Amino acid sequence: MSTQQHLIAPSVLAADFANLQRDIEMVNNSEADWFHIDIMDGVFVPNISFGFPVMSAIAKHAKKPMDVHLMIVDPDRYLKICKDNGADIITVHYEACTHLHRTLAAIKELGCKAGVALNPHTPVSLLKDVIQDIDLVCLMSVNPGFGGQKFIERTYSKIKELRALAIENGTDVLIEIDGGVGLSNAGKLLAAGADVLVAGSFVFTAENPTQTIQELKAVDPSVQSV
Ligand code: DX5
Ligand code: ZN
Repeated sequence: MSTQQHLIAPSVLAADFANLQRDIEMVNNSEADWFHIDIMDGVFVPNISFGFPVMSAIAKHAKKPMDVHLMIVDPDRYLKICKDNGADIITVHYEACTHLHRTLAAIKELGCKAGVALNPHTPVSLLKDVIQDIDLVCLMSVNPGFGGQKFIERTYSKIKELRALAIENGTDVLIEIDGGVGLSNAGKLLAAGADVLVAGSFVFTAENPTQTIQELKAVDPSVQSV
């Protein structure tokens, strides 16, 4: 488990797209650490969110790192444009990359941190031969494509398996959890070894999103049972 304080990454997918600048400023002025940016193509996932022009508009106002989650097939085609539009971390899906090792190298070549996302059905063990090349692993705790879905409980054991795999290979990765995260499971996720919590609907549908971010940031894993 990481000894550093955990990070909170509000997912802009759940923001009010007609008041995007307002919601970005809310995140800027909150205790959030990153912006989580969900890009979907309607092919890899059964939904389309927004693309690079919107991401670029977000980047103009965002004062925190942009953590970009590419839910698209053949993401290699879009790595450079992603970087050029403000990405600091680029996460691709294991299931969408035929040559994952090459894709990770290309992301790093651009000067970004390289992330790999795993769908709920994809075992952590498949990362064994590439774990040393990864900066962040995003464990999907819902099937990607939509906000507001129910958290999949199996995620806790995947976090522990992933941490063990990283330690076995003498490397460190940030473990990010994406989907169905809120105050009811944040402590248990952190106690299991998560470093970054993505939260979309839990933050943006809250009466006071700034305070909700603060509450997520203040969660103390040591008082939770695993
Ligand atoms: C789902 C996206 C998530 C989503 C999370 O495909 O990758 O980032 O925004 O939304 P919540 O927190 O509402 O489950
Ligand atoms: Zn995401």
